[in-house]
Amino acid sequence: SPAPLNVCITGAAGQISYSLLPLLCSGHVFGPDQPLNLHLLEIPPALPALSGVVMEVIDGAYPLVKSVMQTSDPNVAFRAAHVAILVGAFPRRAGMERKDLLAKNLPIFKAQGQALNQVANRDVKVVVVGNPANTNAMVLSHFAPDIAPANITALTRLDHNRALAQVAKRMDTSVSDVRGVCIWGNHSSTQYPDVTRATASGKEVLPKMGGFGGLAEGFIPLIQKRGAAVIQARGMSSAMSAANAIGDHLRSWMLGDSRIVSMAVPADGSYGIRKGVYFSFPVRCVRGGSYEIVQGIDLDEFSRKYIDATAAELYAEREEALALFE
Ligand code: NAI
Repeated sequence: SPAPLNVCITGAAGQISYSLLPLLCSGHVFGPDQPLNLHLLEIPPALPALSGVVMEVIDGAYPLVKSVMQTSDPNVAFRAAHVAILVGAFPRRAGMERKDLLAKNLPIFKAQGQALNQVANRDVKVVVVGNPANTNAMVLSHFAPDIAPANITALTRLDHNRALAQVAKRMDTSVSDVRGVCIWGNHSSTQYPDVTRATASGKEVLPKMGGFGGLAEGFIPLIQKRGAAVIQARGMSSAMSAANAIGDHLRSWMLGDSRIVSMAVPADGSYGIRKGVYFSFPVRCVRGGSYEIVQGIDLDEFSRKYIDATAAELYAEREEALALFE
């Protein structure tokens, strides 16, 4: 079997991690032959809870899990990491604005960027989950200059999966028959879930979704506000579906995927999005840990308007973050 993969999870005692660990440990994400060393990071007050999670991982008797490390030191957790899943973040409290959330998370992602830069494997693959995910990824990359910016990504696969599932439901078909769905922009309520070119079993979905008017009033806000709807119903934020999306994101990236998926990646000027932000694009994952932004999509005016709005939000977040850097 191949050499073990060193997989670091931050916020490892939290609820997403609790749903994610079984997917990783069972081989569902990196493959049934890929052994793992787990590096679990938490803040000191959560270390007792983490030790309980570690007991449960051990009690899972997973043949693929070669070792489990628990620590509150990023320089230990990220050492030789091949994969880093950054879930831990300062939580949004009632009444907190996006700006406050950014200010609370900046020092976390600065410190973790510096630690990754010092001790992680040079080809480490990073997915940022903790919110504001896109801008946290930008901060992380800024403070990890020796890690290729393209190796740092943020999670929009949950939004992508939500869109896929809603299209399949509307078209009365399976998600595996749906093509051409993607998420543009920020993992926030300005995200643009795009189904204008999507097909289900080869049939265009736009007419069945009520055309542009139907999208604007129904589908788009449904996806944009889905996270809030889960919180409203469950009293807690999405964890099972978030963990599932992290697994999907990493499996597509590491093992390749014949479908087009959504990932927030460094903007490179494609579709007029300015460099310097992490922006969700439709991407094609090529086996072996590389991806490319899908090129040549002819965007209609309707889509352009939404894409410009979510880009504007990311440019503003970037400015706010840069102002806090010095
Ligand atoms: P949680 O509160 O259950 O767990 C977060 C854990 O992170 C806690 O155990 C906390 O102690 C830990 N933590 C906080 N600061 C840390 C630090 N500096 N280093 C290491 N660990 C730290 O939260 P949950 O539900 O697991 O969500 C985590 C994050 O994921 C939140 O920011 C949430 O908004 C975000 N999220 C993102 C999604 C996406 O699609 N991008 C989807 C769902 C959630």
